[in-house]
Amino acid sequence: MIKRQINLVRLAAALIAQLLISTASLMSASDAATCVECPAGRVWNLNEPGCTKCPQGRCTDVGQCARCPPGTSQAKPGQRDCQPCPVGMHQPASGQAGCTACPAGEEAPSRGAINCTECRPGFNKSESGAQLCGACPAGSYSDELASLECQLCPPGQFSHTAGQSACQPCPAGTFANWTGASACVVCPAGRDQKHEGGLDCQACRRGFYKAYPAVDDCKLCQPGYYNRAEGSLGCLACPAGYYCPRPWVDPESCPALSVCPAGSYEPIQCRGPFLAADKSSNACQATASLYAVLSASAIVSVIVGLAVAGYVRAWRRRRRRRAGLVDASGAGAADFSDSMTAAAASATAGNERMPLIKGGDGGPVYSGL
Ligand SMILES: *[C@@H]1O[C@H](CO)[C@@H](O)[C@H](O)[C@H]1NC(C)=O
Ligand SMILES: *[C@@H]1O[C@H](CO)[C@@H](O)[C@H](O)[C@H]1NC(C)=O
Ligand SMILES: *[C@@H]1O[C@H](CO)[C@@H](O)[C@H](O)[C@H]1NC(C)=O
Repeated sequence: MIKRQINLVRLAAALIAQLLISTASLMSASDAATCVECPAGRVWNLNEPGCTKCPQGRCTDVGQCARCPPGTSQAKPGQRDCQPCPVGMHQPASGQAGCTACPAGEEAPSRGAINCTECRPGFNKSESGAQLCGACPAGSYSDELASLECQLCPPGQFSHTAGQSACQPCPAGTFANWTGASACVVCPAGRDQKHEGGLDCQACRRGFYKAYPAVDDCKLCQPGYYNRAEGSLGCLACPAGYYCPRPWVDPESCPALSVCPAGSYEPIQCRGPFLAADKSSNACQATASLYAVLSASAIVSVIVGLAVAGYVRAWRRRRRRRAGLVDASGAGAADFSDSMTAAAASATAGNERMPLIKGGDGGPVYSGL
């Protein structure tokens, strides 16, 4: 009887113990499901219970510590967010604690770069580091990708703004005789340059000139002007007594029977009786013999004229006398109306060759008859 009671007590104790154990395990499971939520940057660790920090290069807001993606990094443990790489740095791999500077000749112009980009032509970067590619300054250029250094423009070429991939040849009329020109120089007075890319300017040839510094070519002297020297700023007027057919040769002496006033392009030839008394005068002049000929012919004409007049008078007088009219007039000197009267009389006498105006009776009508 006593033994049986002992067995019952044991059974009850075992039941209670079983109950207690299962209750404890239930309570433990309930703790894990509802109480554990690690803060950002930390995760639950099964091996050593509790929240532990994410390592460098990994971050979380909740859940697992994820590897920072390419272009970002995280240097500190226990962080919620990854940091994008700053300008000038890059990170091609994931899960990294930091970003690396782009090498020389390459740059990362914006944040979060995975790869660096090569400097464009016209730009360069001589050192690795955080700085960006810089534009090649005026007077220099870079014609390739990823340049470390810019090249200076060679003589005869220039680049007038920064960031050029090539230099331009100096235009005609200008020159640059040094390296690294940002501009070319205009040819000075007395010199010109007909080609692009000039290293210097050439002196104007003889017969040509240029008065002012300009890109223009030297000009040929005007007709009648000349110069002997190279690199002239102007031309000389051809002196009197000379002529200048080609402005690059010395003035030529005025030939015989010609005149050459100052500024002559060609001699003026004197023709016939006109001669050059003075070669440097402005025009041909009549000679002394021409004057003699002219005066002689004038005298001869006067004499001939007088003789003809005398003969004509004498003839008229003879005609009048023959017509018997000289005595009727009673005067010694005949005048115009006299002679007309004589003509009329001869007409009435039957000479029909002279046309006359006749009156109604067929007789001549003249006033003063
Ligand atoms: C970065 O460079 C690597 C190798 O040079 C290339 O395979 C990859 O496509 C590049 N990524 C980007 C985003 O340019
Ligand atoms: C580019 O090259 C020049 C020399 O050619 C150098 O002085 C300059 O610092 C370089 N620019 C950069 C951004 O490195
Ligand atoms: C460049 O040209 C100028 C003017 O013609 C001259 O004075 C100078 O000596 C030249 N310099 C060189 C390096 O040839």
